[in-house]
Amino acid sequence: MTKNSLLKIENLSSGYGSTIIVNNFSFEVNKGEILAITGSNGMGKTTLMKTIMGLLEAREGKISFKEEDITNSSPDYRSKSGIGYVPQGREIFSALTVEQNIMLPVYTRKKMSFNVNDKLEEIYSLFPILKEKRSANGSSLSGGQQQQLAIARALIFDPEIIILDEPAEGIQPSIVSFIGKILTDLSKNLKKTFIVVEQNISLISQLNSDCILVEKGILTKKLKSSEINTVEKARNLLSLHN
Ligand SMILES: Nc1ncnc2c1ncn2[C@@H]1O[C@H](COP(=O)(O)OP(=O)(O)OP(=O)(O)O)[C@@H](O)[C@H]1O
Ligand SMILES: [Mg+2]
Repeated sequence: MTKNSLLKIENLSSGYGSTIIVNNFSFEVNKGEILAITGSNGMGKTTLMKTIMGLLEAREGKISFKEEDITNSSPDYRSKSGIGYVPQGREIFSALTVEQNIMLPVYTRKKMSFNVNDKLEEIYSLFPILKEKRSANGSSLSGGQQQQLAIARALIFDPEIIILDEPAEGIQPSIVSFIGKILTDLSKNLKKTFIVVEQNISLISQLNSDCILVEKGILTKKLKSSEINTVEKARNLLSLHN
């Protein structure tokens, strides 16, 4: 394991019933790094993320976080260890307020190692629209605002790494680049680590990160950030596969 490796996936396979979807997948992410993962619809990106979160069991292989084997740990254990998750489709509770959505995960924990109210204020300073709408119902938010809320909900536990599954899906370009800026700033300034599953070329190029290509559950290509750090370069390299 390299010195800064935070999350390491080795020969991971998983699937549904008798079908194997994720097939012998290996990669690692270092602390403070952003790793993009891309691939067309139905290629197994979400299945891979659910397996890393423990929402789907690994059939084969190993998942290590901070050098600890978490392959068979519960999702709750992984979350407590410092892995945050922003699921595809955001999964906002529409009948709860913005603030209740952010704070809901906190109520499930007995002990927190930091002041939650300070953390909430920090989150509100990152996402001013959420502060403004703190008492509004989740259902009243636009898609872009809901995505910000889903990220805020993951940040409340102050995780070391956050996995985001298609944060740009169905969101207007200005909010996509706002979210991209939040992620790159958090990685640069606070050494936060991100795995960003994404098909949006503009966000992929903005992240200025290495990118893994998934095809039929297999890792087929590893692209360096310098190969995809403009929209044109990213489109040329990735459009071949979409
Ligand atoms: N709960 C499930 N039960 C059975 N098969 C599933 C289930 N969820 C996904 N699949 C299948 O697994 C394959 C991979 O799906 P997955 O959702 O991981 O792809 P994806 O790359 O995330 O796609 P998208 O970009 O559309 O989100 C697809 O063939 C899909 O039909
Ligand atoms: Mg998906």
